[in-house]
Amino acid sequence: MSTDIEQRTLLDVKDLEVHFPIRSGVVVERTVGHVRAVDGVSLTIDAGRTYGLVGESGCGKTTLGRAVLRLEEPTAGSVWLDSTDVTALRSERLRRFRSKMQMVFQDPLGSLNPRHNVEMLLAEPLKVHGVGSKAERRRLATETLDAVGLPVSVMERYPHEFSGGQRQRLGIARALMLRPDLIVCDEPVSALDVSIQAQVMNLLDELQGEFGLTYLVIAHDLAVVRHLSDRVGVMYLGKLVEEADSEAIYERPRHPYTKALLSAVPQPDPDIEAGRERIILKGDLPSPANPPSGCRFRTRCPWAQDVCAEEAPVWREAADGHKVACHFDF
Ligand SMILES: Nc1ncnc2c1ncn2[C@@H]1O[C@H](COP(=O)(O)OP(=O)(O)O)[C@@H](O)[C@H]1O
Ligand code: SF4
Ligand SMILES: [Mg+2]
Repeated sequence: MSTDIEQRTLLDVKDLEVHFPIRSGVVVERTVGHVRAVDGVSLTIDAGRTYGLVGESGCGKTTLGRAVLRLEEPTAGSVWLDSTDVTALRSERLRRFRSKMQMVFQDPLGSLNPRHNVEMLLAEPLKVHGVGSKAERRRLATETLDAVGLPVSVMERYPHEFSGGQRQRLGIARALMLRPDLIVCDEPVSALDVSIQAQVMNLLDELQGEFGLTYLVIAHDLAVVRHLSDRVGVMYLGKLVEEADSEAIYERPRHPYTKALLSAVPQPDPDIEAGRERIILKGDLPSPANPPSGCRFRTRCPWAQDVCAEEAPVWREAADGHKVACHFDF
């Protein structure tokens, strides 16, 4: 979480949609519908800040993060990084632009070649972008390892030799090698023991100041997002349902879905914990191929009324900087 006062929008996501075609047919394939994984999301992140995106599994967080990095083609809408429309970039310009935006995964080394040692793994993004000589790449790798708290002696070692926490440090180091402006962290600590989670979150926090990074942090765990984020967006079935500064979301959640998510989190203060009321959501997440009419949350909302099935709630500012999509004020 950054405290400097700079206010410049780095990332601007406008009405983003990512729909995956559902194909069927044995002889002739045809499209029989669409999974509306991301269905009209707009958000901005100021330079040097962290935006936390939460929501249960399947609500479209990863797809949104991947579309921001153009790892997924948007169906509609646009993504701007500074003054560049990322969605309009083609071939060579897109390839070069990718160095400004990187991703940290839940298990960052899971998809990497196990026969490559750390030096090769760290040098690879630089090679792909034709950056530096072998000596310069090694110098950058050394510098980056130091920044993520690993000794230079790990350079000759292989991914399987590391603990989960160390592997995530390596994943972060790899993402840092090209000195990007934006890092999308997708469930960065979900695979780690609770005792290690705090260390990795603190590291992300430190690196943000040191390298002037802007983060989009994706997590289903509200505690992770709270710790890291300046602003928080809550996603449900492809859409944002609430967005506000981090404290405001946790102190005064306004959307029934956010209230339900928060009510499931145990509170450290025993008095607050004693009074905590669980809001149990009915049923499962509906299919994003066929979302409910009106408010998408209505099939599970404890407060749903007739109007909720008929009209989609508008995305409105309920309080200063606090946006919500619900027909009612809670
Ligand atoms: N490549 C794909 N093709 C078809 N459907 C996909 C694809 N990727 C994700 N989905 C679907 O999109 C929805 C959102 O998935 P995802 O973005 O992974 O959600 P989250 O990260 O919040 O768990 C899910 O219903 C998922 O099954
Ligand atoms: S619009 Fe209706 S169904 Fe949707 S969250 Fe609000 S009260 Fe619940
Ligand atoms: Mg995901």
